[in-house]
Amino acid sequence: MSDQKTGFFSHKTMEKNVGWLIVFSVLVISFAGLAQIVPLFFQHSTTNATPGVLPYEPLNLVGRDIYIREGCVSCHSQQIRMLSSEVQRYGPYSLAGESRYDYPFLWGSKRTGPDLARVGQRYSDDWHRVHLRDPRSVVKESNMPGYPWLQHNSVANDNVQDRMRVLRKLGVPYTDEQIAKAPEQLQGKTEEDALVAYLQGLGVAGRAAAAKAVAEGAL
Ligand code: HEC
Repeated sequence: MSDQKTGFFSHKTMEKNVGWLIVFSVLVISFAGLAQIVPLFFQHSTTNATPGVLPYEPLNLVGRDIYIREGCVSCHSQQIRMLSSEVQRYGPYSLAGESRYDYPFLWGSKRTGPDLARVGQRYSDDWHRVHLRDPRSVVKESNMPGYPWLQHNSVANDNVQDRMRVLRKLGVPYTDEQIAKAPEQLQGKTEEDALVAYLQGLGVAGRAAAAKAVAEGAL
């Protein structure tokens, strides 16, 4: 029975028995998947923040939540791929460590609008405000919806401390002092202020490290 042609693990058994073929195909594919994924949990370039990247400031954090709430991610990705066309258009490609403090990450996959991974500091705050209220007043052919109500909603009473505590449990190193001071940063601010602060910070801190990685051709 241990003969190659008739043994249980022989090619013939697998080919003639669809149940076992499925079981072993799943095993092989799972192993191959794990071999790719598991090392990423132990690589510094994916587990540590890119130099310069810090946890979000309270106002930016609240802005990020508005970005999620309004569904901006359904039209905008935040991940510049390693294609030269993307690097030329958007800037140095995204490094995994730049998303270290993103829970959940907002890489996205739909690009109705441009990638926003490095939109920070590309336009003035005023440009963003005008664009968010009425995109077509600055880009005539835009099909982005306007968000004029954001300027009227205050974020002063948002539960930012709770959000920071939850993130700390997930591994974002906020200090007690940062959490204690967080509500101060939201006083007198609107949802629009928060969203603009978030957009203006996108991709800025990790830019130098990413540019270096692109220049060296390394991951
Ligand atoms: C229906 C799809 C859609 C949604 C939803 C959407 N956008 Fe856009 N966005 C676009 C398109 C298309 C453009 C390009 C034209 C323009 O600049 O308006 C754009 C452009 C932008 C730009 C300028 C990017 C650049 O590099 O010039 C920013 C910033 C932006 N969007 C932010 C947001 C934010 C923040 C939200 C959520 C509040 C949002 N968008 C929701 C489609 C969308």
